[in-house]
Amino acid sequence: MATRRITTYKIQQMKRRGVSIPMVTAYDYTAARIIDAAGLPMILVGDSMGHVVLGYDSTIPVTVDDIVNASAAVVRGTTKPLIVADMPFLSYQIDAETALRNAARLIQEGGAQAVKLEGGKSVAPIIRRLTEAGLAVMGHIGLTPQHVNRLGGYRVQGKTETTANEVLEDALSLQEAGAFSVVLELIPAELAKKITKVLDIPTIGIGAGVHCDGQVQVFHDMLGLDPDFRPRHSGEYATLAPIIKDALVRYGQDVGAGTFPTDAQSFFSDESRVMPPIRNALEPDN
Ligand code: KIV
Repeated sequence: MATRRITTYKIQQMKRRGVSIPMVTAYDYTAARIIDAAGLPMILVGDSMGHVVLGYDSTIPVTVDDIVNASAAVVRGTTKPLIVADMPFLSYQIDAETALRNAARLIQEGGAQAVKLEGGKSVAPIIRRLTEAGLAVMGHIGLTPQHVNRLGGYRVQGKTETTANEVLEDALSLQEAGAFSVVLELIPAELAKKITKVLDIPTIGIGAGVHCDGQVQVFHDMLGLDPDFRPRHSGEYATLAPIIKDALVRYGQDVGAGTFPTDAQSFFSDESRVMPPIRNALEPDN
């Protein structure tokens, strides 16, 4: 039976009702299951996977195949959240028909409900083409990491009056083109507040202050999975890298000492020694 996922309509209704919208990235089945169990309404299969999963120094090498495969895994691991798949660099900028073909792959093969693409006014005609074809599109303005080479680094955008007005105009043009929501990345909090007030569609902030309609965080950043990288805009909800490292060190020591596996992790011809079933740790204790 088909699952009942949160819809773009529901996300827009959250803005109208003043309910904030927490979103997080995911790139694999296991993380997706945990996010599903945590009840977050929206997941981004972000091209940030280029950094945190594939080890590139930008999002530029990420391919449509990478996002299709990750989206399909995230969809398999979830029942409720709306899944938004990122359109990688040059998968939508060449022309609207190429954009439509690549977006269709993310929806049909990846199973996502919506796609996200970066850029302001200049990509509005592409968003228009996708939405007219029936796709749900999330915009992404402010710092657009796929433009890192032109921008000359990952810098806060819209700090002057002129550039702030440009970001605001970008936001309006995406709404006009039919985007259901827009990510505001690394812009001053006052500007994000203004855009959020002016737009009817929800704004989802990252490094854009508290007044956006929702927030998005990169899973690996907010959970402290990289001991050497914690950007200023990321929340500190856990510091998992040392915990995981400690577990792996202890595992190595146990194998070295011959104390792992014990009988509990072993199998015997005598069935009475079989271990009890594994409990689902995501379910509440009864
Ligand atoms: O790819 C990503 O994770 C993103 C977020 C930073 C918004 O685009």
